[in-house]
Amino acid sequence: MTHYPNIVILTGAGISAESGIQTFRASDGLWHNHRIEEVATPQGFAKNPALVHEFYNTRRRQLLDPTVQPNAAHHALARLEREHSGSVLLVTQNVDDLHDRAGSDNLLHMHGELNKIRCNHCGMGYSCEEDIGAHTPCKSCGKTGGMRPHIVWFGEMPLYMRDIEAALLDCDLFISIGTSGNVYPAAGFVEVARDNGAHTVELNLDPSNNSEIFHRSINGLASQIVPAFVEKLLS
Ligand code: APR
Repeated sequence: MTHYPNIVILTGAGISAESGIQTFRASDGLWHNHRIEEVATPQGFAKNPALVHEFYNTRRRQLLDPTVQPNAAHHALARLEREHSGSVLLVTQNVDDLHDRAGSDNLLHMHGELNKIRCNHCGMGYSCEEDIGAHTPCKSCGKTGGMRPHIVWFGEMPLYMRDIEAALLDCDLFISIGTSGNVYPAAGFVEVARDNGAHTVELNLDPSNNSEIFHRSINGLASQIVPAFVEKLLS
């Protein structure tokens, strides 16, 4: 395969589906039983913090379930970063820690991380494995009522956008994996990369919303098509 010195990879919920974490937009998906405005907006949190805490506490607990482990797709991307002779930046929309556990290092969690919390009073952030609630005190300022999940909600700015934009402008290959292409700005990354000369490839169970923008679209289970694609890139 052609050598691509600078690779940027975007992942979404589909890469973690086979690890047992629900995607968002499937009929049995995460949003199915929840209204997005209630559990994934700053307004929803202000209105009913207990409900929002419970939603993210449940999801955080799921990461501690021993059956939830990185799958072959997460491992293949970690291997690509280790063995590729150029640079590999992994940008994930996922708030789980499966890429981290698989060993990806050059990794940006643009929508935050479930196993981190932060304080609205003092801005301090921490790793966290426990449930939190309205009365959880901040370990730094000691105040209660300010702790929130370190999650980017709808209406909030995604994280690391400057670094991501710079990498997109500089990449030769852009790969999108397991994302439906519904949520911006991530859904627009393919256009930025393509307009700047990158080859663009989608690896997804079925064609995403913006499938036709990619030079190439490969459909199938992430645990199968991602390792196969990585193998070719490294050969
Ligand atoms: N292998 C590959 N792709 C899969 C698999 C699988 N095993 N299972 C599902 N998919 C695909 C689906 O076909 C779908 O296109 O993964 C995609 C998941 O799409 P969404 O549920 O919309 O998840 P995502 O694109 O990551 O959502 C983006 O939306 O709600 C917000 O902040 C949340 O980060 C999230 C963002």
